[in-house]
Order: sequence, then structure tokens, then C-alpha cells
Amino acid sequence: MTPSSPLEGKHIVLGICGGIAAYKSVSLLRLFIKAGAEVQVVITPAGKQFITPVTLSALSHKPVVSEFFTANTGEWHSHVDLGMWADCMVIAPATASTIGKMANGIADNMLVTTYLSAKSQVFVAPAMDLDMMAHPSTTRNIDLLRSYGNIIIEPEDGYLASGLVGKGRMEEPENILKVVEQFFEKASDKTLKGKKVLITAGPTYEKIDPVRFIGNFSTGKMGFALAAEFARRGADVTLVAGPVSLPTPDHNIRRIDVMSAREMLEACETECGDSDYAVMCAAVADYAPENELDRKIKREHEDVPVLRLKKNPDIAATLGRMKREGQTLVGFALETDHELEHAVEKLQRKNLDFIVLNSMRTPGAGFGTDTNAVTIISRDGTKAEIGLKSKAEVASDIIDNII
Ligand code: PMT
Repeated sequence: MTPSSPLEGKHIVLGICGGIAAYKSVSLLRLFIKAGAEVQVVITPAGKQFITPVTLSALSHKPVVSEFFTANTGEWHSHVDLGMWADCMVIAPATASTIGKMANGIADNMLVTTYLSAKSQVFVAPAMDLDMMAHPSTTRNIDLLRSYGNIIIEPEDGYLASGLVGKGRMEEPENILKVVEQFFEKASDKTLKGKKVLITAGPTYEKIDPVRFIGNFSTGKMGFALAAEFARRGADVTLVAGPVSLPTPDHNIRRIDVMSAREMLEACETECGDSDYAVMCAAVADYAPENELDRKIKREHEDVPVLRLKKNPDIAATLGRMKREGQTLVGFALETDHELEHAVEKLQRKNLDFIVLNSMRTPGAGFGTDTNAVTIISRDGTKAEIGLKSKAEVASDIIDNII
């Protein structure tokens, strides 16, 4: 047994689909067992054509599950129980067909029903021929799985069973093991215990009259993902949220709901003083109507109204002026052009320590998406590029960088 493996005592459901790479699942199973995990294999009917359940049950010391019940005894295999038992589920190899079923909730076999019942982290290691891998339906389904919070272990470029060479080879078992071990290492990481964190998220709404406002397309997903990750690492998180419809992601997070930029500023000024980190992820409206009307503007009786605007306070810049020794202030920049230039200018003008740049020109990044791709720029000019990932993963990378 590997000493001190984070997998020791963990329950892993290993899902195996019907593909040539299923032979590598045997090595993966052995690695999990050697690391001290208890493994339950769930195999699709097609998977059994590639690797025999006898080998898998001998190595896992458990009967392999494939059907909903055992034909001769009628014993029922509960996918719900398996889903609850698992500390994580690893689907390796994941074929195009199973990925499609998982993405769309087509629960016609034990593996997909177990996946749908799983409450824990799911890792998906695709393996298929290069053209299947590159097909828009596969990439869309993988993006969907990523957006549900699954961790995709990208296949490698290399020699494929078809004789072709390209992207589609399942990642090597040793590297899959590493990804799963790193996940559990991080899960037990409480290094931010005792640290206070202030996060802003979502849009602000600036009222024009009782029924209309100036706002933007922010949903709060990025800011909420940051709050969840900080809380998971043990930090004491205050989340100042603009008008969004998201639930608070962790019961340890203290949430303050606000509507306008002024309300957000007030909350931040009160909360920022003793915080160790302040992360300004909200898309604050830069302008508000000069006068908020107390009755609805009527289309029938009035000329087309002219909206005069006034500048809103800059919350990040205000906190930048208040910043005390030892405090880390992080801003975001959402840009449409000259991205780096604008982001660096904001970092300096607002006295930030880091700025996280996302561009409206990157598909899958920015407003509303479940994914993001960012560049983290520090005050000394260092840049870290984070490619397209789920907002949860991006949040984790941002925190790794800023701490
Ligand atoms: O919420 P999602 O749908 O998940 O989308 C995430 C996001 C795109 C909103 C997020 O990733 C993001 O980029 N947030 C910042 C958007 C923005 O307002 O950028 P900006 O370049 O206009 O502002 C720069 C910084 O100053 C930001 O930290 C902002 O919070 C802050 N600011 C801006 C204006 C203002 N009046 N006060 C501020 O504090």
C-alpha cells in the first residue's frame, strides 16, 4: 500500500465503458487498490466485450456490477446506494456513447444511473478515435459534463487502436491516479482557516423607476464559485451579492444581498476592514440614473424620456485606497478589446494586487457561462494563463495563485 495516499479508505466507483482502452482500467484498478481505496467496478454491457468481469472482480475483491439485477437470483443492484457509497466516481474509459448519455441523462444502464445518482466528484477520462473525439457532438457533450462540475481528464495525442494518430488515447492510469489523489489532497486542505475573505458577485441594478433598471448580464456564477472554494478551504467568507438567483453555496458563508452599486459599496466598506483577501468579482454598473423616479414612466402620456446618468462609485478603487498592510485586493476585468492593456491599467489605477482578466472574445468565458478562461496578472507583472475550465476549477486556480 502506498504510504499516506489520500485515497486510503476512500470508496471509488470505477466505471468502465466498451472501448479498447478498457484494458488500461485493470492497471487503474490495481493502482487504486494499492493506494488503499475500496473499489466497486461498474461496467457497461459493451465494456464486458473488452474486459472480463472475472479479472475485475478478482482484483477489486468485489463482484462487478453491470445489470440492474442478477438474473437468476433477482438480487437488485441499487445505483442509488452505490452513488451514496462513493467518495468519487471515475469513468475510464468513457466512450462517446456513454459521454452522450451522461450529458443528456439517458439512464439506460447501470453505469449511467449510478453517475446520475452520484453525490460525489466524478472524473471522466474519454477514450475514442480522433474523429469521434473532434466531432462537435462529442465536444459539446464534454463541455456539458464539465459545466455540471465533472472533472474531465483530457485524452492524449498518440497512436490509436484504429492505426491513426491523434487526440483520443485515454490518459495513462498513473496520471489518472495523480488527478484523483490531487483532488482528495485539496479536499482536505483547510489552509485558509482563520482567514477572512470578502467577495463581491453578480451585477448591480440601478433603478430608473419602480419597474426598470440599468444592469448587466452577470449571473454571479464566478463570484459564487470563488466563495465556495474559499469556504471549502476553511476561510471565513462574506459574500456581497448583487441581484442573482443562485443559492448560497456553503452554509458557512455569510451572505449580504444588495441591489445597487451604492449598497454594494456600503457593505464592502463595512466588511473590508478586517479581511485578509477581498475579491471584487461583481460586474458593478459604472453609471446610475441621475434621478430615480418614484412612479412608472408611462409610454402613452409622455415623450420619449432622456436618461441622464451619473457615475457610480468605484468600489474596488475605494477599497484600494483603504487597503492596509497584509491585505490582498483582487479585481476582475471583463474586456472586449485591448484586454491586457486595459486590465493592467485597472490593476494600477485601483491599487489592486492582482487582476483576473476575462475576455468577451473568448467563447465559453465571461458572463453567464459555467466555464471561464482567465489570465491572472499580479502587481509585479507576472501572468498566469488559465485555459477554459469550469468556474469551480478556475476559482481554485485563482486562489492557488493569489495565496
Ligand atoms: O457573474 P458571471 O455571469 O459568472 O460572470 C462573471 C463575470 C464576467 C462578471 C466576472 O468574471 C467578471 O469579469 N467580473 C468583473 C466585471 C467588471 O465589471 O469588470 P470591469 O472591468 O468593469 O471592472 C473592473 C473591476 O472594478 C472589477 O473588479 C469590478 O468589480 C470593479 N468595479 C467596477 C466598477 C465599479 N463602479 N466599481 C467596481 O468595484
